[in-house]
Amino acid sequence: MTNIRKIVLDEDKIPKYWYNILPDLPKPLPPYINPFNGQPIKPEDMERLFPKECVRQEFSNERWIPIPEEVREVYRIWRPTPLYRAVRLEQYLKTPAKIYFKYEGVSPPGSHKPNTAVAQAYYAAKEGVERLTTETGAGQWGSALAFGCMFFGIKATVYMVRCSYEQKPYRRILMELWGAEVIPSPSNRTEAGRKILEKDPNHPGSLGIAISEAIEDAITHDRTKYALGSVLNHVLIHQTVIGQEALEQLKQIDEYPDVIVGCVGGGSSFSGLFWPFYYEAYVQKKAPKVPELIAVEPTACPTLTKGIYTYDHGDTARLTPLIKMYTLGHDFTPPPIHAGGLRYHGDAPTLCLLVKEGIVKARAYNQVEVFEAATIFARTEGLVPAPEPAHAIKAVIDIALECKRKNEPKTILFLLCGHGLLDLKAYDDYLRGKLPPYEYPKEKIEESIRKLKELYPWLEQIPY
Ligand SMILES: Cc1ncc(COP(=O)(O)O)c(C=O)c1O
Repeated sequence: MTNIRKIVLDEDKIPKYWYNILPDLPKPLPPYINPFNGQPIKPEDMERLFPKECVRQEFSNERWIPIPEEVREVYRIWRPTPLYRAVRLEQYLKTPAKIYFKYEGVSPPGSHKPNTAVAQAYYAAKEGVERLTTETGAGQWGSALAFGCMFFGIKATVYMVRCSYEQKPYRRILMELWGAEVIPSPSNRTEAGRKILEKDPNHPGSLGIAISEAIEDAITHDRTKYALGSVLNHVLIHQTVIGQEALEQLKQIDEYPDVIVGCVGGGSSFSGLFWPFYYEAYVQKKAPKVPELIAVEPTACPTLTKGIYTYDHGDTARLTPLIKMYTLGHDFTPPPIHAGGLRYHGDAPTLCLLVKEGIVKARAYNQVEVFEAATIFARTEGLVPAPEPAHAIKAVIDIALECKRKNEPKTILFLLCGHGLLDLKAYDDYLRGKLPPYEYPKEKIEESIRKLKELYPWLEQIPY
């Protein structure tokens, strides 16, 4: 078995269905709440913003959702993605653990994000939408949406968090190459952006602000809708091609993970990996093992480890419904760490529910220890990880070293959800000792949540 380095599936093994966890959650998901009347949001309320089929999937209790042939046809460009065994990393760590990773960096934009971008662009085009707006942190999601829109002949407008826009010009160029318009956020294009710039013309931006701008742009223009790259159920559903393929790949070599690890920004890539295992092990109870599920986040944006489980908005200008999630407060401005995709104040409500129920465990690391781990990985396995999945690598190394101490030959599976070839500036800063180890202060989180409770005193009374 040690001779196996990678497992590659044939194209006909690209899944034909996405898996939806909603009918299989341990408790019903708390509904999205309309901030104007405190009542649950109805699907119709979301149709102005999102393509209708995405809204249908958002509220669907169907366990298996067919993947349209047109979407599978685009998936064929890079799917199925390989599953690797990190033998050289195991040898370097001298661990008895076996480390496997599913690699999504082979997609043209370089991450898992096109799994949903292609689907969202397809559904939008099919209902006659001419333009999709969105936000992007690191530029991974924006480039994935630009890529998806290009295949179905619609325009993409991407509001890119200003500090990433400046740190990562190559992703902007990639988006423009695929035909998208890219605007640094906060911008003068929207009311939400102008308000922020009035107070601070040099504001570094945040995902929360960029989301507000993209939503405002969509609702103030005809034939324009909005696409989100994480957090919502339909987005996570589209990512389950990852876990379904990984299950099949591990089965081919008679393996099953004891531990599944992924980084979490909004929770879509990690959920895409672990949901199909959750279904088999926790719901059907048919798996040979019940894997431990570990979500990893930055100490600079510690949503799951230090946030509060309550209703909050998904964006800074409070345009989104209230979502029950672990949150750092919608006015959270994270320090400008390099893992731009992990700088979001909330998380997917399904993932938050599973954390609350103790099914998923969370841990946080600072960016210095994360880049140290990423460097070990690059120097053993050769692949350069994006800063986001480097958080998962740090956790995997810790777990593998614990296996060494306890002499436990565990099987670890993690998601390498993107490559870091457009993040070399971050590696440069790390190699030159210029990366600070940010930790977000607890008092600031408490202050944000206190402000939220003052804004909506009735929040405590909502029965969910
Ligand atoms: C490479 C990469 N990984 C992870 C994330 C975090 O998002 P999620 O938790 O939804 O996978 C992002 C978000 O932009 C990303 O670009």
